[in-house]
This record gives sequence, structure tokens and C-alpha cells, in this order.
Amino acid sequence: MSTHLTQSAAWQALQRHAAIIANEHMRDVFAREPERFSQFSLRAGSLLLDYSKNRISSETIKLLVDLALARKVPEHRGAMFSGAKINTTESRAVMHVALRNRAEGRGLVRPMMVDGIDIMGDVLHALMRLREFSERVRDGSWTGSTGKPIKHIVNIGIGGSHLGPMFVADALKDYQRADLTLAFVSNPDRAQIDEVLGACDPAATLFVISSKTFTTAETMSNAAIARGWVAEALGEQAIARHFAAVSTNHHATTEFGIPADGVFPMWDWVGGRYSVCSGIGLPVILACGFDTFDAFLSGAHSMDLHFETAPLDQNMPVIMALLGVWYAEFFQAPASAILPYDHRLKLLPFHIQQVDMESNGKGTTVAGDPVETLAGPIIFGGGGSDSQHSFFQLLHQSPRLIPCDFVAALKTRRGTDASRDLLLANCFAQTEALMKGRASAELANIPEALRPHRSFSGNRPTNTILLDSLTPFALGQLVALYEHKVFVQGVIWGVNSFDQWGVELGKELAKSLEPSIAGQGLLAARDSSTAGLVAAYLEAKRRSV
Ligand code: F6P
Repeated sequence: MSTHLTQSAAWQALQRHAAIIANEHMRDVFAREPERFSQFSLRAGSLLLDYSKNRISSETIKLLVDLALARKVPEHRGAMFSGAKINTTESRAVMHVALRNRAEGRGLVRPMMVDGIDIMGDVLHALMRLREFSERVRDGSWTGSTGKPIKHIVNIGIGGSHLGPMFVADALKDYQRADLTLAFVSNPDRAQIDEVLGACDPAATLFVISSKTFTTAETMSNAAIARGWVAEALGEQAIARHFAAVSTNHHATTEFGIPADGVFPMWDWVGGRYSVCSGIGLPVILACGFDTFDAFLSGAHSMDLHFETAPLDQNMPVIMALLGVWYAEFFQAPASAILPYDHRLKLLPFHIQQVDMESNGKGTTVAGDPVETLAGPIIFGGGGSDSQHSFFQLLHQSPRLIPCDFVAALKTRRGTDASRDLLLANCFAQTEALMKGRASAELANIPEALRPHRSFSGNRPTNTILLDSLTPFALGQLVALYEHKVFVQGVIWGVNSFDQWGVELGKELAKSLEPSIAGQGLLAARDSSTAGLVAAYLEAKRRSV
């Protein structure tokens, strides 16, 4: 691929076009184009994407699709689905789509190839084992070492081995069994695990150690604490009944004391942040049942099919990706917000923040050159309406342009009620306010001096994603929608969305500081700031002895 993104004809055409669009206000465009909603909205399965409140025309979409074609998005998409090693720095295929690949109708499941081998046999076998194991835990035939049925599930993991399953489990809380508790531990701060353990009975607790590598320091530290807690209460021989693991590192899981029937596979071709559809979803399966998880996988698969087959200008992840590029590059939007208007979707921003920022927060292209633009955006967000009462002020009146995704479910398993009326009224009204704004001329009754403070420029873009209902299927679609959006943006910016070298340096330096922090190492080679901070900590430790 040419690395000269900004020199390409497609880019320059967009630049010229942006100068025209910058002078348009969406308020006027909506008045002129009454069909805008039907023109700029898409349906896929249980999802509706309304992207009409964007600073675009049909010409914008055409030019953005030209950019996607110039950057060979269809070819890259084909390469991912065919198992090519598109994670070039780690020489790995990227096959999270295989995790939810399933037969259409009565047909056979489509082969998915990595290194010339169909991986679907392994995927389906792992799913069968996850089903069997979870059913045994849920029906009480898998007991703790004293014969007690499992009543508490504790997932220990971090990053992709934490955020994805925690988000999905929380979103599907209405599908969880009331007599099983589910907790997530990620922080090496003992306060978190102590709080969780304090609410559990060791004889009725099953820990899932979720770690692709089984070497991640935070996870290993928490796993060791949990192991000690079980061994102290029930004896060493109890470990096998109280721990399961999801990992590629079977040597380490065996050393930890987890027998093979409690270890579920991961593969190098699944990135951590893309792993929620793998065994990393085990806590979801245990809490909600395998059939619920299976419906979640079906939803993700249906979005995969949509992504693979829909024309680019009717392709939900492609459209969302192109709109993101449009604002980041041609309107210098510094960030992008994800705003779920549903309590059950409150963790969506945190999961997608990792998916997006760990994937596209890169400074180097696949070819090894510096990226030409700022590439991946800053992603933040929070639940509506709470966020309306905190950071929305900046979204409405700051000179910064922050495109937003509003995400809401029309119904939940509990149906719909007056409080959902209020929630959705707020959701829709916010997109309207951001779009229309309020001109000074509309403030005739307000004292003149206050008018600048009370006016809103508007013309602030939003997408609205509506789920028919917060079902496992719709949730799977939503997760895959964002995964593919991030993929398309990575292709456009020319970065490898599937490595994460940026997190390595900090890990290395933390390791090398450990002896000093324990009071045994020399700090002479460290900079004065780091040495000073360590000294302050050592002094606090000395005083607290
Ligand atoms: O440090 C980043 C990271 O590698 C993530 O990409 C990953 O999801 C997380 O750490 C946890 O890794 P593991 O599953 O190997 O413990």
C-alpha cells in the first residue's frame, strides 16, 4: 500500500470537499432535506444506525468510499477473513471472526484457514468443552473440594481478558442466574481482591484465570493471592476444583495446579482485545448459560457477514469508520465519545476504548514509516444520562468538535417502562441539541450580555445506534460492529491494528524497578524523578513498619 495517504487523489478530493461542508450547518441541511433520516440510516439485523446527524452529503459518502477503495479496504478485509498474517510485527493471523463462525441454515460451517489448516475443528471443540464444563458447574455436578456446589465465580484477568467479558456479562445481567455471583478482579491493588474474596465462601468459589499468556504480572499476582486463599481454607489438594483457566500457555496452567479438564484454549490468532468470543467469555457462559453466549456469538457472526458482504456505502462498520476518519482528519476532532443510554451498556466505552486505542493508537505504519496524520482517536465516554450532568457541557459548547456515538436499546428483557421513556427522550434530545444548537437570535428574551453564554453553535455530529432490544444477539452485533470499525480505520491509516508494542516498555521498566521498590536494588542509574518517587515510597514503608 502507498504510505502517502495524504497525497492520494482520494484524500485531496476529501480535503477540497471538507472546505465546502465546513460552511454548511446541519440545521439548514435538515430543513432542506426532509428525507435525510431514510437517506442516511442503515439496518443490519437487530441494529439501526442513524448517521443523518453528520456533517455530510451523499457526495461526502461517495468520496469517503473512494478513499476506502484507494486504501484497499475490501482487499484487506478479504485478507483478514482468509487467515493471512496481517498482524505483521508478530507474524500472526487475525481470526476472531472464526470464534463465532457458524453454519448458515443446514449448511456446513465454512472452513477458516490458518497456515493451511482449518481451525474450525479446534474452535468448535473448545465451544463444546466450554458448554460441558459450564453445564456441570451450573447444575451442581462440578463441586468444590468439599462437595459444595459453586455459588461464586471470580474472573481474574486484565485488559482484553477482563474488559470484554466484564462488559458482556454486565450487559447480560438480566440473563444471569440469581443464585450465582460473578465478580471481576484486575487491579493488583489488594483492595480489590480483598473486597471480592470477603464476599465469597472458599468452598463454593470457582476462579477463572483468564490470561492468554499466563505471564501478565497483575493477573499472576492476583491469581497467586486467590490460590493462597483457597489453599489456606481448604488445603493444597483443593486447587484443582476451584480454578479454571483460559490460556495458550498450558505449561504454566499445569504448574499452577489446574488440571487439563479445567483449562480452555486460546490461540495466537486471537488478540486479547478481540477475545471475548473465545473461552475468555467463560465467566459470561458460567453466569448466563451457554445458550445465551451462543446467541451472542450468532449476533457477532451476523455482523461479520454484513461486514464481509454489504456494499461499502451500506456497510455499517465501514460507514462508522469513514465518519470517524472524516472528523479526525478533516475537522481535527481530537477525540470521539461513546455514550450508552442504557445502564446495562455502561461498560461499553471502556471495552471499546481498549479495542480502539490499543489497536490504532500507533505512530508507525505497517511499512515502518511514521504515520502521516494523528491516526487513532482518543476514545472516552460514559453512560447517559449521568454524563449529561458531567462532561456534556464540553460536548455542547467547547470549540472542540467531539463526534459522539449514542447507543441505546429500545427494549430490555424487562420490557419498556416510563423510565425508559425518560432515558430515550434524553438520548434523542441530546443528538438534536448537538445538531441544532441555539443561535443568539433565538435568545431575544435573554439579557444581551448573557446571550453569548446561552447560545450553542450546534453542528456537532452524532451517530445513534439503536438495538431493537438488549438481547445477546444484538449485543454480539454491537461488539463486532466496533471491532470492524476499528479494523477499517486501521487499514485507512495504514497501521497494524493487532499488535500493542506500546504497552511493553512500561511493563519492562516496572519489572526492573521491582528490586528497588522492595528496598534491595540500586537506583543510581534511574533519573532523579523516578529515584525520588521510589525513595518517597521506601520512606513511607520504613515509617509504617
Ligand atoms: O498489556 C496489554 C495486553 O497484552 C492486552 O493486549 C491484553 O489484553 C492484556 O495485556 C492481558 O494479557 P493476557 O491475557 O496475556 O494476560
